[in-house]
Amino acid sequence: MLTAAMTLDPAFRVAPVHRRTFGSFVEHMGRCVYTGIYEPGHPTADADGFRRDVADLTRELGVTTVRYPGGNFVSGYRWEDGVGPRERRPVRRDLAWHSTETNHFGLNEFIRWTRSLGIEPMMAVNLGTRGVQEALDLLEYANHPGGTELSDRRAAHGHPEPHGVRMWCLGNEMDGPWQVGHMTAREYGRLAARTARAMRMSDPGLELVACGSSGSGMPTFGAWEAEVLQECYDAVDYVSLHAYYEEHDGDLGSFLASATDMDHFIESVAATADAVRARLKARKRIMLSFDEWNVWYLSRFQGEEQRTDWPTAPRVIEDRYSLADAVVVGNLLISLLRHSDRVTAASQAQLVNVIAPIMTEPGGPAWRQTVFHPFALTARAAAGHVLRVEPEAPLYTTERHGDAPVLDAVATHDPGNGAAAVFAVNRSTDHPLTLDIDLRGLDAERVTECLTLSDDDVYATNTAEDPDRVRPRPNKDTTLSGGRLTAVLPPVSWTVIRLATTAA
Ligand code: AHR
Repeated sequence: MLTAAMTLDPAFRVAPVHRRTFGSFVEHMGRCVYTGIYEPGHPTADADGFRRDVADLTRELGVTTVRYPGGNFVSGYRWEDGVGPRERRPVRRDLAWHSTETNHFGLNEFIRWTRSLGIEPMMAVNLGTRGVQEALDLLEYANHPGGTELSDRRAAHGHPEPHGVRMWCLGNEMDGPWQVGHMTAREYGRLAARTARAMRMSDPGLELVACGSSGSGMPTFGAWEAEVLQECYDAVDYVSLHAYYEEHDGDLGSFLASATDMDHFIESVAATADAVRARLKARKRIMLSFDEWNVWYLSRFQGEEQRTDWPTAPRVIEDRYSLADAVVVGNLLISLLRHSDRVTAASQAQLVNVIAPIMTEPGGPAWRQTVFHPFALTARAAAGHVLRVEPEAPLYTTERHGDAPVLDAVATHDPGNGAAAVFAVNRSTDHPLTLDIDLRGLDAERVTECLTLSDDDVYATNTAEDPDRVRPRPNKDTTLSGGRLTAVLPPVSWTVIRLATTAA
């Protein structure tokens, strides 16, 4: 049996819990849109063709914001193709995923879908094949109240009220050679600056995201962020981060410590942005938008450029997630919360079918993948302020990340109602862990809920036939006494403990 300790003190605040931490991502890729969120003719489809079974699961997941329409897709996208009468919308090739895009779903359908779920839309503009003018046109069509050609066109398309989209991504992964319209940092930084300044002339209240590196493993990582921000610092609010993790060659120990890499990545980008801030003598601090993160078995992905056909909504990267993947996803959320002083928006990539927490069959059921659970439970329980918990835990050695603690944890506390929550991961592959929590400064009344995600088979998955094979179960191994809480965390597990405390 391993042991670890930590302290929960409401005075040790990191930052507020940002609701945008629980964002997701819908790209025109594979079956995320078509037969994902949108499937006219499906038995659960509503009058707009939106699948109600997927909408219900999206609500349960607790998603707060959704980024759209890509991803790599956006770098060749003409937004005008997706608005207006459907029968007049052109069918086009999508070079990013070598697919055929019918344009049956576009901006207005997306906004309708988000509004029906109380989700904040977050849009990306195409800076791959397009530029300032098209970004301005899209902004005017989407957000201008009326009385101009573009805003009146929106009204004629059935949307008299402006969409009011506040957060905009200035392109996507422009450092990636795979990106349509790939650029150097200087080229992109200047284009991002010109686009951002023009968009702000249209609406100074927008929140704008410059593309950071598409991953910390990129050869230009660090230099890219510095050069891009040097060009556009005053005009943007965020720089983006993207990271995908997977288990390599059966190295479960390293995979389970993936969040240590996310910690390092976040801290490196924050430091780089702050170095530019110092150089420019700027007052403003750039925040981080972690707008693509997840587990993705990228090494198994062949690449769509190999295709010779142009299918519509093909099955692309429909990874089936295991218990171990869910534990890592829960741990990545711990890392995001821990960095809430800098990461104020995040989007798990993606929402449905494409490396997603929700899976569907066309004409058939929708179900929760294993990774659904830590996301939904964290989104539900995390409230108020994120607390620093200073865990003390034994280390284990990993191939990829050096020595890593077996325990990772974070906590939140809502002074309004006294609710506290602890999110904890036991990364040990063979030992349970007894976690002893000093509830200093919190007058804890009772444990209201303790749920653990674990399984005898770390590679167990959920399927259409057995959709609840992996699900959170009540953890009875908790005791609360004398201002201390003890919980036993099984090997390879993720746990949420919710406490009622005297509000303070
Ligand atoms: O989420 C899948 C893809 O991963 C996105 O389109 C792209 O931005 C990233 O490389």
